Amino acid sequence: MRDWYAFWGLTRPPFFKELEDALLWVPTSKAHHIDRIVGAVEQRETGVVIVGEPGVGKTCLLRLARHRLAGQSVRLTYCHNATLGRRDFYRQLCHALGLTPKATAAAVFYALTTHVEELAREQTHPVFLLDESQLLHQDVLDHLHILANYGWDSKALLTVVLVGLPELWDRLLLRRNRALWSRIHCRIHLGEAVPADTVEYVRHRMTTAGTDQEVFASDALALLHEGTAGRLRDIDRVASECLRRAASNGHRIVDRAIVSQVLTADQIR
Ligand SMILES: Nc1ncnc2c1ncn2[C@@H]1O[C@H](COP(=O)(O)OP(=O)(O)OP(=O)(O)O)[C@@H](O)[C@H]1O
Ligand SMILES: [Mg+2]
Repeated sequence: MRDWYAFWGLTRPPFFKELEDALLWVPTSKAHHIDRIVGAVEQRETGVVIVGEPGVGKTCLLRLARHRLAGQSVRLTYCHNATLGRRDFYRQLCHALGLTPKATAAAVFYALTTHVEELAREQTHPVFLLDESQLLHQDVLDHLHILANYGWDSKALLTVVLVGLPELWDRLLLRRNRALWSRIHCRIHLGEAVPADTVEYVRHRMTTAGTDQEVFASDALALLHEGTAGRLRDIDRVASECLRRAASNGHRIVDRAIVSQVLTADQIR
């Protein structure tokens, strides 16, 4: 069915990933994590780590923090390719910051640290967000605390935010990474949604897309939660398919049977 979401009186697909920061869901049970990340940046802490299974909402949590920090003197730089060796990693960072790439590793490092010091003079606090950090090369990890070291390790000029899968935490616990780990005071393990979160999340996304109707029956939501183990990206996919299927059958409510059919077809369970 084309524009199946119009069947539900919605103005857009409710579980689409393109959602403006201002419309993101602020999970009641996880709001303290957002406060903690915002606090870490405002207090110019050196390191933040956020780990969690795929699709539990780590990147969205960062976007919520970014939204809260808007208007403050903070420059956020997002690095999405964590698979580079040290020199190319720093080059990527230079590129993201609008700096001219340099040939040697030492020159790139110098350009970066000089830039960070310049920002400090302008009272701007840089934050480097490294997504998929579990993939970082060991030589990049080895160097991160050096990148964050200014004025004989007495100045807090830069915050590094590492985001990744739970194995990132295990890597940081290795003896080899203890110099970095000891500088990361804000440590967040983001868990899957609990049942109340799933209800809140689905309601939020439906409201944002244009309806206040309780389209999902409560036992359907319970099964949706169970079948997806509270992973939001899975909820997005399954809930969308349920809405599509119910619409094409002319059902005005997504009941437990529809969720069950979709989960079986999706083979999550
Ligand atoms: N706070 C939120 N508000 C609205 N939607 C959300 C929120 N958190 C997660 N989602 C939904 O779940 C999807 C997955 O979230 P996100 O990309 O943040 O997960 P992730 O933990 O970063 O996953 P990965 O480890 O694969 O990068 C998003 O595309 C979005 O649709
Ligand atoms: Mg992510």
